[in-house]
Amino acid sequence: MSAPALKPAATEPFLPYGRQLIDEDDIAAVTAALRSDFLTTGPLVSQFEGALAKSTEARHAIVRSNGTAALYLAARAMGLGHGTKVIVPSITFLATASAPHLNGAEIVFADVDPQSGLMGPDHLADALRRAGSADAVFNVHLNGQCGALEDIAKVARAAGLKIVDDACHALGTVFVDERGTANAIGNNAHSDLSVFSFHPVKAIAMGEGGAVTTNDARIAARLQRARSHGMTREPAQFANSADAFDTEGRANPWYYELGEPGFNWRASDIQCALGLSQLSKLDRFLARRRAIAAAYDALLAPYAPRIRHVARHRTCLPAWHLYAVQIDFDACRTTRSRVMRALSERGIGTQVHYFPVHRQPYYARRYGEVTLPGAERYYARALSLPFFASMSEDDAARVVDRLAETLGL
Ligand SMILES: Cc1ncc(COP(=O)(O)O)c(C=O)c1O
Repeated sequence: MSAPALKPAATEPFLPYGRQLIDEDDIAAVTAALRSDFLTTGPLVSQFEGALAKSTEARHAIVRSNGTAALYLAARAMGLGHGTKVIVPSITFLATASAPHLNGAEIVFADVDPQSGLMGPDHLADALRRAGSADAVFNVHLNGQCGALEDIAKVARAAGLKIVDDACHALGTVFVDERGTANAIGNNAHSDLSVFSFHPVKAIAMGEGGAVTTNDARIAARLQRARSHGMTREPAQFANSADAFDTEGRANPWYYELGEPGFNWRASDIQCALGLSQLSKLDRFLARRRAIAAAYDALLAPYAPRIRHVARHRTCLPAWHLYAVQIDFDACRTTRSRVMRALSERGIGTQVHYFPVHRQPYYARRYGEVTLPGAERYYARALSLPFFASMSEDDAARVVDRLAETLGL
């Protein structure tokens, strides 16, 4: 079925699937950083880390140049190198798998729930069975929603797995455990490390930026060192005293030492100025995102079962990053590609999160055919609608009208 050629009215701005919300106070914060003495490795980095640790209820937050670098260093901090195996749900962004894999780990892909896209404890147990044994699991809070974290942790801990949460979608998400305790994602109550991204479509924007949170001071110190070439200027950490100290026992002013080699994975003070300013408004951003999600839920309800929002997990208060729906394109006698093109012509940007990573040619070549029916089914029907804090309920209504028209509903 081809869509009628309806163009957006000239006054209607294009609605992308996601975008940042930058106010004058963000611009002032970045301008102040530009006028300061430090463009990088200055005080704003640790200020942002302190604010982020508070917001995620973690003891330590270590900022990174982006979420991918944060995932890479999280894998390294967990010792996931050659000879190790890491379980990763197939519905995620490439970086979740690339990070442990580029450290040397082999990836075992897990299936997901076809309605929510989330890996559950049974999917993890199935991946473990296929793997024989594994060393870690990278759990993904897809769309900003978390799943059965306690049950996942039980399966993982019983098999001796380390748990890294890819919380790149989930800054501000809250998990409510069996006792009714609310846990900020990032507090690592049910994981070892959590990783965040502050790419512009995420809950807060840094341009590029990411972070790891941990409650382990030793791992935090290792992550701090690793971000800057793996070098240290801390006299207490020097191994080579003959070169490190002068004849009076003082550290030589020029001296630094390499513990383990690394690259430059730092975030600048300019980026952290934006991150700090944005983080101070996280509650407002999340309230708007929750209001838009509620508006979409109500507007889409009449179109079930052809269009459904992703299934909701009862233990989660999500900080929605994406508004993802499942559409029965076959029943609407159309294809996703046609619908996306038609919507784009009508001023509506959409995206698919995600093509199953186990089917990417690199992994398909490396690991052969893997059958993950939940991931296939979720992917076949997935579409992310425009969703960002600065859009209005009227914008959501426009999206739903155009979507229903395009699907012939
Ligand atoms: C689930 C997930 N993990 C990791 C990343 C990587 O984050 P970044 O783009 O900040 O490197 C993203 C980014 O889109 C993501 O969605």
